[in-house]
Formats: sequence, structure tokens, C-alpha cells
Amino acid sequence: MPLIQHALSITDHPLPVRPARYIEVASARIREFTHSPVSDAMIGFVPSDYQLVYRTLDCLLDLTRGRRFCEWGSGFGVVAGLATMLGFQAYGIEVESILVQESIRLADEFNLNTQFVEGSFVPTGGPEFVDVIDQITCLDLDRRPAYGALGIDPDEFDAIFVYPWPGETRFVNELFETFAPVGAFMVSFHGRQDVRVHEKVTSTRRRN
Ligand SMILES: C[S@@+](CC[C@H](N)C(=O)[O-])C[C@H]1O[C@@H](n2cnc3c(N)ncnc32)[C@H](O)[C@@H]1O
Repeated sequence: MPLIQHALSITDHPLPVRPARYIEVASARIREFTHSPVSDAMIGFVPSDYQLVYRTLDCLLDLTRGRRFCEWGSGFGVVAGLATMLGFQAYGIEVESILVQESIRLADEFNLNTQFVEGSFVPTGGPEFVDVIDQITCLDLDRRPAYGALGIDPDEFDAIFVYPWPGETRFVNELFETFAPVGAFMVSFHGRQDVRVHEKVTSTRRRN
């Protein structure tokens, strides 16, 4: 099996002041955004549990080989921003232009050098991994991959964060399994308190 799941001991300790304040500001802005007419067309954006994700990423610092991090489908870019605060060199890839703009605004306000790019986190060839059992409802399979604009290949990230919709979990696991390097970690959020941490331990042969 190329992926193994880790059970991390995530403690409930209070967050440091800066990430706590960042989450507070981001959450207020997301509430405002989701009540505005502009968000009506964006059914795919739902925020994850940022405190839980922060605590998980904090544990990940002891495990990853390097510090290059990417939030796949970054929404408001909050997780990529938190990863930056923890010391990762973090990037966010998002298809919705307005969300990329909001992410940049938020990161600038907190002096974060997180980099955001508009486009798809699904690499070239990725859509071939969609299976008949998948229910791809919100994940955009039509947009161009963002890796060229970033100047970083999908196999150069040490850690990934993704919040897939339920019918998309198998597919994002498959993408991680195929395109991430051996030794990379993927943190995925699945609603409520369900956060999963996978490590790619062996290589897979890419389909052509
Ligand atoms: C469930 S939301 C999670 C947002 C954010 N990661 C968070 O935790 O707050 C999924 C996000 O993925 C974006 N998205 C969907 N398909 C994408 C794709 N192919 N590439 C990049 N972003 C995508 C959506 O626009 C949405 O903002």
C-alpha cells in the first residue's frame, strides 16, 4: 500500500495569539462572504475547522522531511496562512478568482508571505483517475493545472492539505498517491472532528 494512515495525538491546547487572531478575523470575513450574493455561485467553498487543522499541522512539523506545503483548493487561504505561521513555505491553489483575491488580502494583513495562485491543483493527467464510484460534485476537473504558474511540480511538496467533498475523497487520495513524492504527508479534513493524516511510503507507477 503506497499510503499509510497516522494516528497523531492532537492536544486541545489553546492556540498562540497570532494564529488565534488570524482565525478569528478570517472566520468573520468568511461569514460576511458566505452571506453575500457573490458567494451564491460558489457552492464548493466550505471552511474547515481551522483550530483542529492548526493543531494537526503543528504535529506534522516533527514528521515532514521538508517544509514545502500546498493547500489544494485553498478557499480563503486560511490553512496555507496557518502553515506559514508554523514555519512552512506555503502555497495555496484555488480555482475561484475572488477567493484567491480574498486570500491575498488576508495574508497581506497578517504579513504572511504565503503564495496563492489561481488554477487547478489537479495535475495534468489527473482527471484520468476519476472512477465510476466517485461522485465529483464540487471539484473542478476542467481548469488548467496551476503548477506551471507556481514554478513547482506536484511532486515537490512535502505536505498537502485538502478538504474534499465526501464523494471526492477516493479521487484526492489517488492524486496524492500518484503525484506526491515518497515521504510526503497529506492532511485531509472530512467535516466535524474528522481529520486524517496519510504518508506516502512507496512509489506508484503513473498511468500513461
Ligand atoms: C471544501 S472547500 C475548502 C476550502 C479551504 N481549503 C478550507 O479548508 O477552508 C474546497 C475548495 O476547493 C476549490 N476547488 C474545487 N476544485 C478545485 C480545483 N480543481 N483546483 C483548485 N481548487 C479547487 C473550491 O473552489 C473550494 O474553495
